[in-house]
Amino acid sequence: MDLAQEKKSFLSKFKEADSQDSLNSLKIQYLGKKGILSSLMSQLSNAPAEKKPELGKSINKFKSLIEESISSSLEKIEQSALNEQLSNEAIDVTLPLSPDVGSYHPISLIANEISNYFKNKGYVLREGPEIESEYFNFSALNIPENHPARDMHDTFYFDNGNLLRTHTSPVQIRSMELESPPLKILCPGKVFRCDSDQTHTPMFHQVEGLVVDKDINFAHLKNEILEFIESFFKDNPKVRFRPSYFPFTEPSVEVDIKGENGWLEIMGCGMVHPNVLKNVGLSPEVYSGFAFGMGIERMTMLRYQISDIRMLFENDLRFVIKG
Ligand code: PHE
Repeated sequence: MDLAQEKKSFLSKFKEADSQDSLNSLKIQYLGKKGILSSLMSQLSNAPAEKKPELGKSINKFKSLIEESISSSLEKIEQSALNEQLSNEAIDVTLPLSPDVGSYHPISLIANEISNYFKNKGYVLREGPEIESEYFNFSALNIPENHPARDMHDTFYFDNGNLLRTHTSPVQIRSMELESPPLKILCPGKVFRCDSDQTHTPMFHQVEGLVVDKDINFAHLKNEILEFIESFFKDNPKVRFRPSYFPFTEPSVEVDIKGENGWLEIMGCGMVHPNVLKNVGLSPEVYSGFAFGMGIERMTMLRYQISDIRMLFENDLRFVIKG
């Protein structure tokens, strides 16, 4: 192996190498374990003793030449890729704003649609705080301390005992404390649970409905839900009311619709529990009511066929701006 020859051939290959891939493979070819440099090194051990120092120096020089030329070329390529990316992604802040680029986030679209639907049915909107006390989030809703249902909620607590509300149901209590029946309210809002995966985010949205009056019965609830589903899902899916449990409703059901891959749960509901009525000073002998609650993300995912809930919060412009 002739060092001068190898150097010449390296320089000509290096001239041709104009991509990260070709530079990296050149690096392996010369500096890799079985590369040309290591064969040159093994030649060195067989060289006559007096030639060793000189030859060793030349090999080392050749090695630095290879290392330096390849790494400086790689750096140049990376820099120019970065420059290109920066210039492609640059936003000219001096451009005039076009009035029609904004659009509603899918969550807002569905929240508005659901709110408008129920407003047209005579419901009024009520809101409550996102930081709640245990009383409104749990106790008044017939979930006493040490009740296992508190664990189901994966609650974020503050040091002072307050919490981020885990559902919109506390707004039921606040509304019933402030207003007397007949009540027909809808409470949309953010709720929080310590949970995160493909179908859960720590913050999500719910919308809650509450109707309280004399002589409200389960048939009213069932009819309200069936009419809503018929309007929301244009393809008229099959609906199933599946017995379930919520401490604040009795009886309680979860509502499923039939999708392509089987039944999908879309909401929880039931008749307001007599203890809840008592907690807000209403007599269960006189009044009855129903409540329902659903996840807005779930409804949005079903409407737009979104499979990963996290897409809703990544703010990828291709996703949030309607084409
Ligand atoms: N608050 C319940 C939940 O978050 C939903 C619900 C609301 C159930 C109203 C029944 C009545 O899971």
